[in-house]
Amino acid sequence: MALPLIFLLCLSTSLGDTAALTRHDFPKGFIFGAGTSAFQVEGATDEDGRKPSLWDTFTNEGYSFDKSTANVSADQYHHYKDDVKLMRDIGLDAYRFSISWTRLIPDGRGEINPKGLEYYNNLIDELIRQGIQPHVTIYHFDLPQSLQDEYNGLLSPRFIDDYTAYAEACFKSFGDKVKHWVTINEPNIDTIGGFDIGTLPPQRCSYPFGLNCTVGDSTTEPYIAAHHLLLAHASAVSLYRDKYQATQRGQIGITLLGWWHEPATNSSQDAAAARRMNDFHIGWFMHPLVHGDYPTVMRSRVGARLPDLTAEQSRNLVRSFDFIGFNHYIVLQVQADKRKFSPMQRDYYADAAAIPSQFVHIREGHLDDAPWALGKLLDHLRLTYRNPPIMIHENGFSDTSEIPGKIEYDDDDRSEFLQDYIEALYLSIQNGSNVRGYFVWSFLDVFEFLYGYRSRFGLCGVDMNVEGRTRYMRKSAHWYSGFLNGGELRP
Ligand code: NOJ
Repeated sequence: MALPLIFLLCLSTSLGDTAALTRHDFPKGFIFGAGTSAFQVEGATDEDGRKPSLWDTFTNEGYSFDKSTANVSADQYHHYKDDVKLMRDIGLDAYRFSISWTRLIPDGRGEINPKGLEYYNNLIDELIRQGIQPHVTIYHFDLPQSLQDEYNGLLSPRFIDDYTAYAEACFKSFGDKVKHWVTINEPNIDTIGGFDIGTLPPQRCSYPFGLNCTVGDSTTEPYIAAHHLLLAHASAVSLYRDKYQATQRGQIGITLLGWWHEPATNSSQDAAAARRMNDFHIGWFMHPLVHGDYPTVMRSRVGARLPDLTAEQSRNLVRSFDFIGFNHYIVLQVQADKRKFSPMQRDYYADAAAIPSQFVHIREGHLDDAPWALGKLLDHLRLTYRNPPIMIHENGFSDTSEIPGKIEYDDDDRSEFLQDYIEALYLSIQNGSNVRGYFVWSFLDVFEFLYGYRSRFGLCGVDMNVEGRTRYMRKSAHWYSGFLNGGELRP
């Protein structure tokens, strides 16, 4: 049957619009970058005065799945110049990295380590010299072991003061050059992993789930730890705004893990369970940051175990961000279920279970690729949280099939994954979402939390078997480079 000409024309324009998408179709000033974090990439863990973090202890005690440590990892500490050159070759606008608390302040509080200061100044200067913006995360999971030993780390309100002093050391030392700060990375996963299911350090849980974890009280501790992280965030932002922002003219925000929960069926129970899980994972932090208190559903289910926010704390939290970062990887399908879970899971599942979508094939023969979920997350933020400025701080594809040490160059699946998500991002922006930047995770292969070196996310590969840790651009790095230089998203 012949289609009317006008229909054919509309069809080709609308398909053509995203098919020929380039970076110039994104808003002016939109930032495209890639990232890593200190513990995962730096190595040199006992050099030049750096002291252990929780993650050094955890990995050296053999808890990562492949028993590896990050003692050397990609060794960016010694190769930062090569890395910045690679970033320039790719054409990144920005590099997101974190500062290692125990490299800058080895004991967690007190004296600054001159060697740590020198290292980050060198890295930042090199980035700026090559025209790459430094986007700096102050705290990316690597709590000083000394603070854990002294007062149980995140479980004590003393964490708030030590964190604020550390953040101030960062503003003072680097704020003349760093214009984008993230206070804390993924407080939602740090607390669930560390205090509910206990798979991440400090491995506290009252429900043995995987790793040897026996101490703790998961009915209260995840909520307490998260509360302290939120207050620490608000405290650092107040300080930055009062003392530094006017002269340093930077922006500051926090970065959350943005799992999206979707009902597995169209039953009303599944819909309610999915809404509840989004509230327990995203609303847990977004609600206080936008509305000044935890979500109502958390208040009613967790009751007195959920800490109170005083009027002053609530005032300090509301709008304590210039942007919110989201790390988006997966969608979880939520389904009514009668199984029992960990204490905190009981609070949010309440007879619902989540099935990670890695195992849901949404495109024939193509695994783990659900860009529509990013659109749903962004719609949710637009509609429920007053459309805050967003940075997609992580999104990426892990190559777990790789044999450790084997160099893989061909990663068309990674490029396709990133193309799909960048296209979804573009459509959300067209739809009114206030997104300002997008960062691929990761710039290069690094130590993956819990999984070690079997899970590789890098645009650039690193040969972890040779002393010099040779780097090479994967095909996806070449593809990203083409896009960043103005080429089509799907060349
Ligand atoms: C989130 C974390 O911020 C990052 O450190 C980790 O490597 C990636 N997700 C991938 O799991």
